[in-house]
Amino acid sequence: MRIAVFGAGYVGLVTGACMADLGHDVVVRDIVSEKIETLERGDVPIYEPGLDELLERNRERLRFTLDVAEAVHDAQFLYICVGTPPTPSGDADLSAVWTVIDELPRDFDGEPPVLVMKSTVPVGTGASVRAALDVRGLERIGYVSNPEFTAEGTAIHDFMHPDRTVIGSFRFDDGDAVERLHQGIDGPIMRMDVASAEMVKMASNAFLVTRISFINEIANVCEVTGADVIQVAEAVGLDHRLGPHFLRAGIGYGGSCFPKDSLALKQLAANSGYHFQLLSAVIEVNELQKRRVINKLQKHLRSLRGKRVALLGLAFKPNTDDMREAPSIVLAARLAAEGAEVTGWDPVADGRAVLNGVHIADSALEALDGADAAVIVTEWPELLELDWDAAGSRMRNRLLVDGRNMLDPEALRAHGFEYEGIGRGGS
Ligand code: UGA
Repeated sequence: MRIAVFGAGYVGLVTGACMADLGHDVVVRDIVSEKIETLERGDVPIYEPGLDELLERNRERLRFTLDVAEAVHDAQFLYICVGTPPTPSGDADLSAVWTVIDELPRDFDGEPPVLVMKSTVPVGTGASVRAALDVRGLERIGYVSNPEFTAEGTAIHDFMHPDRTVIGSFRFDDGDAVERLHQGIDGPIMRMDVASAEMVKMASNAFLVTRISFINEIANVCEVTGADVIQVAEAVGLDHRLGPHFLRAGIGYGGSCFPKDSLALKQLAANSGYHFQLLSAVIEVNELQKRRVINKLQKHLRSLRGKRVALLGLAFKPNTDDMREAPSIVLAARLAAEGAEVTGWDPVADGRAVLNGVHIADSALEALDGADAAVIVTEWPELLELDWDAAGSRMRNRLLVDGRNMLDPEALRAHGFEYEGIGRGGS
């Protein structure tokens, strides 16, 4: 099949590379010329494990362009993979989606394509796009909602081995065409109406963040009662009705999806006259969770004025260079407001553009030079390998806040550290 992918971001590039790997011919279109030039040179503008090999392996089935007409020419499917960031009101900003719709040609030679919405959009978007296409005389273009459930860092595996593929369509035939496109991908295919498909995506992310905020609150109660959230979460997760996933307590969720999607669902409900109380609490817990790190530092250092704090890991999670809504951004700003000097280190992400006033070090050890405290913000495996004794000897004071509960408290204490985890009251 011939596929045009709009958007060369994390979702578009993974979708394009995986579809090419399944044997389809793919053209990826973006509006940013540097991205297209980078891709044409054979380089990858983002860090996603395995993506470079996949793009290289499928080079002959992949093209990159700035030109809509070139992308759309002959395409049987138009995948929309553009960003839908939050507006100041917390609603999803759909302007990039509408730009793609507006740029579509009015006439298609031969069989008109099916538009496939992969971007995360509020419920009702498909109906609005359908109406807009109809008004423009493009009734014959199909419309399918096919939300993505891939997580950054494991996106290629998630794409090829999904728990489920959701296909929502207005016309059954359009859904059939998209279903055929997925031949070669494992997992059950769920067919439904467009609004339900849109809601599956929003509800899935809302449920996942609810689990994270729930376990974070359990962690906070563990701290005041002497329980250890790691043991608690493990045992809770063994109940087959609950399962083990998304029960890792820490300094809160970030990224390009969870914060924006949870807010978008909350606002979608509010705009429709419903106050989504549970989701509002989930979001608030997440905001407070990041700030609790400051209290933990103050408990040991009292005032943070003039104190040096090293943030280890800056990306919102390991195996990505994505800094969007990373907890490090809030932490760095709160620390600066308390008068601390902040250094940061990340093996992949470049925080310079979003971390004002933070000195970026080339290595974890360099970031720790003269530090009064270290905070693990992202659980990069490199931090497990770090010689913590050597690290401590470079610090002015051996205090570690392990925001991801990745290290063994006793091992750290044996190296003379004061160790603060999240919800590890018993240890
Ligand atoms: C998330 C979902 O996992 C994907 O299924 C979804 O497709 C994607 O959003 C999206 O909507 O596009 P992603 O944001 O890449 O994927 O990353 P996750 O691995 O889900 O992690 C999100 C955040 O939650 C990270 O900051 C992570 O540290 C945090 N987290 C995750 C926890 O604090 N605890 C956990 O137990 C799990």
